[in-house]
Amino acid sequence: MARARAVLALAVLLAAPCAPARAQEHETPAPPTNRWSFAGPFGKFDRGQLQRGFKVYREVCQVCHALKLVAFRTLADPGGPAFTTAQATAIAAEYQVKGEPDEQGDVKDRPGRLADTFPPPFPNDQAARARYNAVPPDLSVIAKARGYERGFPRWVGDIFTQYQEQGVDYLTALLQGYKDKPPAGVTIPPASFYNEYFPGHAIAMPPPLTDNRVEYTDGAPMTVEQYAKDISAFLMWTAEPHLEARKRSGMQVFIFLIVLSALLYFTKKKVWHAVKLHPEELKPRPPSEYPRA
Ligand code: HEC
Repeated sequence: MARARAVLALAVLLAAPCAPARAQEHETPAPPTNRWSFAGPFGKFDRGQLQRGFKVYREVCQVCHALKLVAFRTLADPGGPAFTTAQATAIAAEYQVKGEPDEQGDVKDRPGRLADTFPPPFPNDQAARARYNAVPPDLSVIAKARGYERGFPRWVGDIFTQYQEQGVDYLTALLQGYKDKPPAGVTIPPASFYNEYFPGHAIAMPPPLTDNRVEYTDGAPMTVEQYAKDISAFLMWTAEPHLEARKRSGMQVFIFLIVLSALLYFTKKKVWHAVKLHPEELKPRPPSEYPRA
């Protein structure tokens, strides 16, 4: 009887931490997992997707969101959206950035150059908040700053698949997660919108994407789903511009370690070869044969 009670107590103890997690999951569902070209140990960005995502940023998100850690020159870096330097220079020149102070100390705007970063859409957070009730966060590293708990048993599988796309999966889901009306019994504050995937569900960002809003010239579908995936992939690149180099050198290190292990194994076999063949020759010397000092 005492044993049964102990087992029951243990079961309750083990189940307890799961209960709130499940309740929360019910409230904010886990974002669906997408297939990304840059996932896994051999992942690489899809250049076309990055360029489309960049277009979505420029035509939609840029009105509200800054990208202040991203320099124009990086648009032409290897492993990125693969613009040419001339294209990146032309893109930079379309922006007005704060210039250097002149002799009177006045700062005037000038066209952007490759070394400049994307200028923010608002002079300060207060101005942004006055306009939208909340500060639109800088998107430079948002793909790394956001994510969600995968929970058991998914995190175990993630070790093998090397899943690291929580951030982009969340962004993609967030951008498609708007509902016209909140579910029955849920009220949200004024000037906010119901979003299934936003923690708390009331987001101050109006639904940014609609079908056909951004014109694609490469034949990719002009749907909210495609826009959401493309902009999320682009934001993954801004957050981790050296992702491809990191994965490449990771693979090289693995191959090197495998070759090195093989070499060490055969070296060990060679060194101990004689010992294994003639163990009798390795009898310890009797103390009478010890060298004298
Ligand atoms: C009209 C202005 C506006 C536009 C356009 C806009 N956003 Fe937002 N965004 C906001 C505001 C305001 C917030 C802050 C919301 C809050 O905290 O409730 C926000 C928040 C976010 C967040 C953070 C969500 C979180 O988990 O905290 C992400 C990511 C985001 N926006 C992505 C985008 C992307 C991608 C686009 C372009 C497709 C875009 N936004 C277009 C105003 C905008």
